[in-house]
Amino acid sequence: MTTHRPLACVILAAGKGTRMKSDMPKVLHRVAGRPMVGHVLAAVKALDPDHVVVVVGPGMDDVAAAVAPYPTAVQHEQRGTADAVHSAFGLLEGFSGDVVVLYGDTPLVTPDTLRAMVAARRQASDPAVVVLGMRPDDPAAYGRLILNARGGLEKIVEYLDATEDERKVGLCNAGLMAFDGARMFDLINRIGNANAKGEYYLTDVVQIARGDGMTCAVVEAAPAEVVGVNSRAELAEVEKLIQRRLRKAAMDNGATLTDPDTVTFSFDTKLGRDVIVGPHVVFAPGVVVGDRVEIKSFTHLEQVRIESGAQIGPYARLRPGAEIGPDVHIGNFVEVKNARIEAGAKVNHLTYIGDARVGAKANVGAGTITCNYDGYNKSLTDIGAGAFIGSNSSLVAPVKIGDGAIIGAGSVITTDVEADTLAVARGRQQAYSGWAKRFRERKQNEKAKKA
Ligand code: UD1
Ligand code: MG
Repeated sequence: MTTHRPLACVILAAGKGTRMKSDMPKVLHRVAGRPMVGHVLAAVKALDPDHVVVVVGPGMDDVAAAVAPYPTAVQHEQRGTADAVHSAFGLLEGFSGDVVVLYGDTPLVTPDTLRAMVAARRQASDPAVVVLGMRPDDPAAYGRLILNARGGLEKIVEYLDATEDERKVGLCNAGLMAFDGARMFDLINRIGNANAKGEYYLTDVVQIARGDGMTCAVVEAAPAEVVGVNSRAELAEVEKLIQRRLRKAAMDNGATLTDPDTVTFSFDTKLGRDVIVGPHVVFAPGVVVGDRVEIKSFTHLEQVRIESGAQIGPYARLRPGAEIGPDVHIGNFVEVKNARIEAGAKVNHLTYIGDARVGAKANVGAGTITCNYDGYNKSLTDIGAGAFIGSNSSLVAPVKIGDGAIIGAGSVITTDVEADTLAVARGRQQAYSGWAKRFRERKQNEKAKKA
């Protein structure tokens, strides 16, 4: 029987992210609808660690709130990545398991890669440090991993401190590291700041460990998994990569995307089997879609549940709290917010349904508006099963339309309508026989006289 070896994860998120030119901390910028640090936490969680510490800067309460209930350690001054890890020491006191250090700005890392790092740390050669490496097409300003003749890791040089020859090395530091906790505290305490930036570089740990005769190892990851975000352009690059991943997962799970490159998913989008998604559909966070649903082009969905067999769009907007029942049809230019549309109901054209229930098999005509807001309060509209709402009707909430009732087109309904009742609330039609013809003749005569 193997004994449980404890695991701790430290996520560095104290950097101000100056290059983002933002009032918001870098790690709160969203990728696929979730803050970057949330992606890192999700990957970490998959390893079921015994401790997680997120290192934040002073006053980053919003980051602390975003990562709760995980504890945060404050790095008071941005003195480099080694100093950032050092800030977490208080919360890890006496810990002697394995410690994985991650960056809050590297959100695409997968649990498999983290597992590979931990496994490499626990291999027989017992390396003090395992560094995650990558070989990007353009190594740019990444730190370089310098290997020794035996293929072990000898040192990491930051780009600014690297020689011409070292800069030619294609193997780069992705930033993530796994440590033997029993040796980590001492190694990091010995890191100095004699370098181009005058910072305490975590990367120096390798040389110090080697100096003591310890081994250090490298695990390689696909560059797309370890892109770090330092600018808005890199944020867009990471978004592109994660969308590619999410689209592939959707298709692998049995959805058809007719033009995958144009569909935008969120980290938590859930699609059933045989769902068809047209071009230019956006899934904001919180969308759950049942089996055999078709979502036509240019539809925008957020915090919505759609049950099986429903047809949505094109050009539909389903906002938070929309619950679309089985086999419902929601058509073009229809907006639904905080409303339950029950089985088989149809809301097909140019309509706003907010704070409402639409009963099973009801038919809501073109241009219907639920007037849910009087400038102060939101009120409910309740439409019964099988009701028929004529086109261009306004339903002034609070109001209840009974089962099977019919509302005449163009009505403004302000009081409840009983079941199976016809309600018409508009001016009665008048007809003046021959009036139009007489009108035209008079006007033509006047014109002729003038000429
Ligand atoms: C770092 C590595 C570099 C690697 C690159 C990969 C060091 C010295 N360099 O450079 O070798 O190729 O990542 O992306 O480690 N942070 C703090 N406190 C600090 C400084 C940084 O919490 O005082 C955090 C940042 O919020 C960020 C992470 O550490 O999440 C990395 O910092 P960053 O400044 O982006 O390092 P790079 O210059 O990208
Ligand atoms: Mg970085």
